[in-house]
Amino acid sequence: MRVAVTGASGYVGRAVVEALVALGHEVVAVSRHPRLGDPGHGLGLDVLSDDLRPAFAGADAVIHLVGIIRERTDVGVTFERLHVDATRRVLDAVRQSNVPRLLHMSALGTSPRGGSAYFETKWRAEEAVRAAWPKATIVRPSLMFGGGADFFRTLVGLAHNPVVPVPGDGRTPFDPVARTDVARALAAMVSDEEASGETFEIGGPERFTLNQLIDRVGQAVLGRRPPLPKIHMPLRALRPLVALGEHVPGFPLTKDQLQMLGIPNTTDDTRWHRWVPEPRHLDRDL
Ligand SMILES: NC(=O)c1ccc[n+]([C@@H]2O[C@H](COP(=O)([O-])OP(=O)(O)OC[C@H]3O[C@@H](n4cnc5c(N)ncnc54)[C@H](OP(=O)(O)O)[C@@H]3O)[C@@H](O)[C@H]2O)c1
Repeated sequence: MRVAVTGASGYVGRAVVEALVALGHEVVAVSRHPRLGDPGHGLGLDVLSDDLRPAFAGADAVIHLVGIIRERTDVGVTFERLHVDATRRVLDAVRQSNVPRLLHMSALGTSPRGGSAYFETKWRAEEAVRAAWPKATIVRPSLMFGGGADFFRTLVGLAHNPVVPVPGDGRTPFDPVARTDVARALAAMVSDEEASGETFEIGGPERFTLNQLIDRVGQAVLGRRPPLPKIHMPLRALRPLVALGEHVPGFPLTKDQLQMLGIPNTTDDTRWHRWVPEPRHLDRDL
């Protein structure tokens, strides 16, 4: 099949393109800055402004991955634009190009009152997909690990401290899932009618609280014996500091991410195991 992938050069996109190529699909890899050497046929397009039809023409499926975790309001990169507006533009182009199959990347935790702008705009993007394309497949993964995930890099940084500063009480649960497993599932769903019209929540095989994740990372990467000494900082007290810091390049957290650290991110949906029967456990490859 010929599959067009938006966000193909990103953390998830690179793994999705590899998984598609491994299954023998021809890939059109869409992003603003396609890199020489990336697998797939790269096309440099902005999903917010460019005509996407040249990328989707003749495609048997589109996988729409573009999304952000951090806004850059100074340059107009907002959740509203990148999640809701971009998805609407992709939907229009998919319809105009007569592409028969659409897979849409959402996120676990998405809901109308998700408690964070990320989750709420992801929900509105899903609503747009459901309204325009009832047969689309929507996937909602939990936090992903493997191949240098930003969140886990931050945890490694934190775990270096003699006493680890933890935002909140550290009891929020997560089901981290391997990026390559999510990619394999998406690549398999492309050609499987069973996935049509379904929404899959995708979580990994183990559940960790944030405290446990920090311990696991500290042990696996730094060889520190768990439990690591921690100091818990109330989310409310951190908010003013993060509100100031989030505008500084390199500051590790935004207000929205701080909010998300207090929202459980778990699922008992295992239907995706039909494509990935033995999802990977969290290990040293973060
Ligand atoms: N990472 C996770 O743990 C996780 C968990 C759940 C869900 N997700 C979802 O998975 C998707 C991918 O996330 P990611 O972690 O791979 O993010 P990422 O590494 O930041 O990748 C984003 C991709 O989107 C492209 N992009 C950004 N703005 C664009 C624009 N205006 N036009 C065209 N392309 C644009 C980027 O390429 P250019 O900059 O070259 O354009 C890049 O290829 C997102 O929807 C995210 O919400 C991620």
